Amino acid sequence: MGVPLFDTRTPLAPLRGAIDAKIGEVIDGSRFILGPEVEAFEREFAAYTGAPHVVGVANGTDAITIALRALGVGPGDEVVVPSFTFYASAEAIPLTGARPVFCDVDPETFCVTPETVEAALTPRTKAVIVVHLFGNVAPVAGIEALGVPVLEDAAQAAGARSADGAAGALGTVATFSFFPSKNLGAFGDGGAVTARDAEVADRVRMLRFHGSRDKQTFEMIGHNSRLDELQAAILRVQLPHLDGWADGRRAAGRHYEDAGLGELAGLPRPVDGCEPAWHLYVIRHDRADELAAALGAAGVGHKAYYRVPAHQQPAMREYAPSGPLPGTDEAARTHLAIPMSPVLSREQAAEVVAAVRDADLGRPH
Ligand SMILES: Cc1ncc(COP(=O)(O)O)c(C=O)c1O
Repeated sequence: MGVPLFDTRTPLAPLRGAIDAKIGEVIDGSRFILGPEVEAFEREFAAYTGAPHVVGVANGTDAITIALRALGVGPGDEVVVPSFTFYASAEAIPLTGARPVFCDVDPETFCVTPETVEAALTPRTKAVIVVHLFGNVAPVAGIEALGVPVLEDAAQAAGARSADGAAGALGTVATFSFFPSKNLGAFGDGGAVTARDAEVADRVRMLRFHGSRDKQTFEMIGHNSRLDELQAAILRVQLPHLDGWADGRRAAGRHYEDAGLGELAGLPRPVDGCEPAWHLYVIRHDRADELAAALGAAGVGHKAYYRVPAHQQPAMREYAPSGPLPGTDEAARTHLAIPMSPVLSREQAAEVVAAVRDADLGRPH
């Protein structure tokens, strides 16, 4: 039968009428940029995450660059970032004039730890980017305890929680992407910055509009990076469903466990005390590429996302880490995403696990 890697269509189908109506409302209102929908979404997303301030921006990459700049990051500074992440987490740093310093991850959670971050700190460290990769929640409090401001890259973690609160309300600032395939996806690009302090949020608000408060006086070299009204309106229809979808993602993870996947591959481990919202369900196997070929032959969706981690990308050559990153190397070599969605059924999970079993590649390590 086959199981796709994602299913964004099925969860949205019941919302189609409400989304169409909202789009119509925005068109009828003729406000397309920074109007009532963005304002309402910012309020509602703040209430949802528990973060005091939310500012909508154009995408998750701008969100990181703008949030770093709002924290005062610039030339001469270093920003610690994991290498096992989507390239944009690191790319946003040189755009501020600062230097990325790559740190390692725990290959079982795919997230940074206080130890891996501490090893990368120097007197020039101005901030740490903590990526809640694949919908897990990295240990923000333990990293803040090192005495550095934390930016949560929560692009993949909308709907995830730790014991201390929701992803996006744990650090000094946090950033989200609303790329269509994300846990909360727009129908195009979109993003947001959340902030603990009003002053930082105020700077983000200025930076997203050319460094101006009033369109007359331009106080900073800024960006043109706004969440648009149509996308905000579409996100508002979806937001009340995000928790239910996150429950569905966790249930899908349990279906995989119940079907015996843990005997055949390394399963993603939630960071202690967190409720992940599996954006991607990423397993590990020493023979990951052979497993990928077998899944492909069985019609099962799969993808190796970061075989070449960020620090080995050509554009990052000048930022080579000073020591080895063994957790990153292992994760990069062994990871493989298998199907995940809020509606992945027990039967679909069993079909995926049967395909992994039929691949007959032996123990994961
Ligand atoms: C971890 C991570 N950070 C940043 C981004 C960048 O987001 P965007 O594509 O909206 O710029 C993404 C997603 O694409 C991501 O997965």
